[in-house]
Amino acid sequence: MDKISGSFGVVLGRLGSRLTLAALCALAAVGCKTSADSTVSPPPNNNGSGLIIPAGFPNVTTPADNPYSDAKSKLGRYLFYEKQLSVDNSKACVDCHKQANAFCDFGNAVSTGVRGIKRDSGFFGGGGTRNAPGLSNVAYNTSYFWDGRAATLEQQALLPIINPIELGNTLAVVVQRLSADPTYPALFKAAFGDTKIDSIRIGMALATFERTLLSGNSAYDSYVRGDASAISAAAIRGLKLFTSSVTNCSRCHSGFNFADSSFHSTGLEQSYMDSGRFLISKQSNDIGSFKTPSLRNVALTSPYEHDGRFTTLEEVIDHYNQGGMHNKAQDSLIKPLNLSNQQIEDIVAFLNSLTDEQFVSNAAFRDPH
Ligand code: HEC
Ligand code: HEC
Repeated sequence: MDKISGSFGVVLGRLGSRLTLAALCALAAVGCKTSADSTVSPPPNNNGSGLIIPAGFPNVTTPADNPYSDAKSKLGRYLFYEKQLSVDNSKACVDCHKQANAFCDFGNAVSTGVRGIKRDSGFFGGGGTRNAPGLSNVAYNTSYFWDGRAATLEQQALLPIINPIELGNTLAVVVQRLSADPTYPALFKAAFGDTKIDSIRIGMALATFERTLLSGNSAYDSYVRGDASAISAAAIRGLKLFTSSVTNCSRCHSGFNFADSSFHSTGLEQSYMDSGRFLISKQSNDIGSFKTPSLRNVALTSPYEHDGRFTTLEEVIDHYNQGGMHNKAQDSLIKPLNLSNQQIEDIVAFLNSLTDEQFVSNAAFRDPH
């Protein structure tokens, strides 16, 4: 019970926390099953599925009807970079989810879809501008989009294809184009056993590729695996602040993936233009609530927040320091923090230590075409 496997446990150990495994599980985004599970070293892969999981990370759960296979992931990788998915053959998933920036749309608060349409008309995004999030460790998310409106990666993957302000296509046209392409029938056969191409298989393959986007080799990970000099003294101070009750950051950005799979209003506005989770749940205490983003590779994923309003991490922390705009649904954990500039810089140093250079340069994620 006291031997908690996984990086978060090591951190807590270092910080001398007295949290029990149960309390840790309550904080963690995913992955705590039984105390027996948590005392064994993580297997090198997902129960023989072939999906390589970073040391200390929990297994990735795949849907029963879409188990991992290398062939399916390979097909998904081709599709992720495939401009034929867009109505005018101009754009692919990768145009808004770039590997060098942990698969976000770096530098753009709002992405540009087909025909130069800015993705800010709120057509499918739910009444406001939405920033394209990074995809580090999306395999562990329990819902997708800032408002959580997609339940699985399989479901999510087809939506950008038909979204008029993203790829603007129809699934029938995509199926027709891929069937006529010299590359795809063989890739579908390898992945699914026959050459049939349909939208369900397209979603399955894209989801399978996305599950391989696992990031667990940052300087922070080296630190929690025992290399005490992997991160700076400032980053260590920042980590302590981040996990302390002074800031409460890790109450929401919890666990190995720094995300709690839940929705909160952090008080960015007194009155939100984009109602966020409320659009799905219709619960008034969800107005202005958005999914807690993972902070893995966050130094590479500017601009920040659901609408990309902040350019720097300092601006994000200044917002928390000030304590929010006090809207009705604001989470009670968001309150003035009285952090000094030094403390803010320490937290930024910690956040910078979450950058995983291997992940953003991994040849296995590059354009296969
Ligand atoms: C025009 C830009 C654009 C394109 C093209 C695009 N996306 Fe996105 N993506 C976004 C935006 C913006 C969001 C957030 C939308 C929201 O939350 O309402 C998003 C969200 C996501 C998410 C949710 C991540 C999470 O954890 O919530 C996934 C997964 C994703 N996209 C995968 C894809 C795939 C796969 C494709 C190609 C089939 C694709 N995207 C094409 C802009 C784009
Ligand atoms: C009450 C839960 C909660 C607490 C506490 C919290 N966050 Fe957040 N954080 C969120 C949510 C939810 C968002 C997205 C909000 C939005 O876009 O409207 C977010 C966004 C962020 C972002 C932007 C990430 C991106 O990719 O856009 C950073 C960085 C961040 N938080 C760091 C911190 C730090 C540092 C602390 C402590 C000082 C902290 N958070 C405390 C829930 C929380």
